Amino acid sequence: MIELPIADAAPAATAVPRLSLAELTELSAEVRALAAERGAVILAHNYQLPEIQAVADIIGDSLFLSQEAERVPQPVIAFCGVHFMAETASVLSPEKTVLIPDVDAGCSLADSITAEQLAGWQAKHPGAITVMYVNTTAEVKALTDYCCTSGNAVAVVEHIIREHGPDVEILFGPDMFLGSYVAKQTGHPGLRVWDGECHVHAGIRPSDIERVRRDHPGADFLIHPECGCSTSVMEYVASGDVDTEGVHMLSTGGMLDYAQQQEAAGGERKTAIVATEVGMLHGLRQASPGTEFIPANEQAACTYMKMITLPKLRDALRDMTGVVNVPVDIAEKARIPIERMVSIGRDAGIPLVGE
Ligand code: 13P
Ligand code: SF4
Repeated sequence: MIELPIADAAPAATAVPRLSLAELTELSAEVRALAAERGAVILAHNYQLPEIQAVADIIGDSLFLSQEAERVPQPVIAFCGVHFMAETASVLSPEKTVLIPDVDAGCSLADSITAEQLAGWQAKHPGAITVMYVNTTAEVKALTDYCCTSGNAVAVVEHIIREHGPDVEILFGPDMFLGSYVAKQTGHPGLRVWDGECHVHAGIRPSDIERVRRDHPGADFLIHPECGCSTSVMEYVASGDVDTEGVHMLSTGGMLDYAQQQEAAGGERKTAIVATEVGMLHGLRQASPGTEFIPANEQAACTYMKMITLPKLRDALRDMTGVVNVPVDIAEKARIPIERMVSIGRDAGIPLVGE
């Protein structure tokens, strides 16, 4: 099997250079002016720095950004996220110019399976349907039948079972925690899961959840299914140790929907423990100032996401650098599973195991 990515495999947690308020204001104005000049739309993932989210036209999770990249009319997309996300936008819209402000903004999860490894796995399971998380390279997607994100992994697997019958064998990867969540939700015996992981989410351990549960009894839990704690939380739910009412297994976009619903409902102040990358807290606190959001692990920062800074975004738009190019033959094959994922849409309120 593969070597698991470990925290050391990611770039060292370098502090993002702090900009003064005057610098932030000037750079933001420069970025907006350049975007208008270039006919560019700025897309930003929910984990991006607050100043990047502030200049973006569209902010969202990986599924929403894939859908928006295809829908927007602008000829240039400045993608503030990690490389596989920009690559996905380029595959869906080959006629558009997709820029990423730092081409080295990678993803440890995407690095946990290569095209050669996937081909080897498929050779051992002839006839199986391959589902790969969108956090993969275009070469891996080119060998894939369906992509999925955290927002629709269960819906994609249920669709395949409906289409191919209950005996279908499914190869699911590369995230083992998301895979184990999908296996529990669907109960499908033919689901095989690759043992890859994201170093940030795998680092949010069951012990983190135990500590925050102790410190904040009665709080809600918002958990990204990539988390190392997700399996244990599902076990708590199944055993009745944690009340299902307050546990939400969500994509980053689903977490924002939760915050908006809390705010709309008003009422008494709630506390929610957030198990995902800490950049998420900015958007959540903006969406619901009346809710107290507490990180499950304050160290859970994705250094790849934080490689995208305002000066780099300004330079990319000014010089039209960081253009993402996917070879045509790979892009044509990779488009099929991505389009299937986009057309299936989001999970539709699938209850947690034990509910
Ligand atoms: P979402 O699909 O929830 O946006 O997550 C993407 C990601 O990279 C999680 O780390
Ligand atoms: Fe990849 Fe993990 Fe960073 Fe998400 S948080 S982009 S999965 S390394």
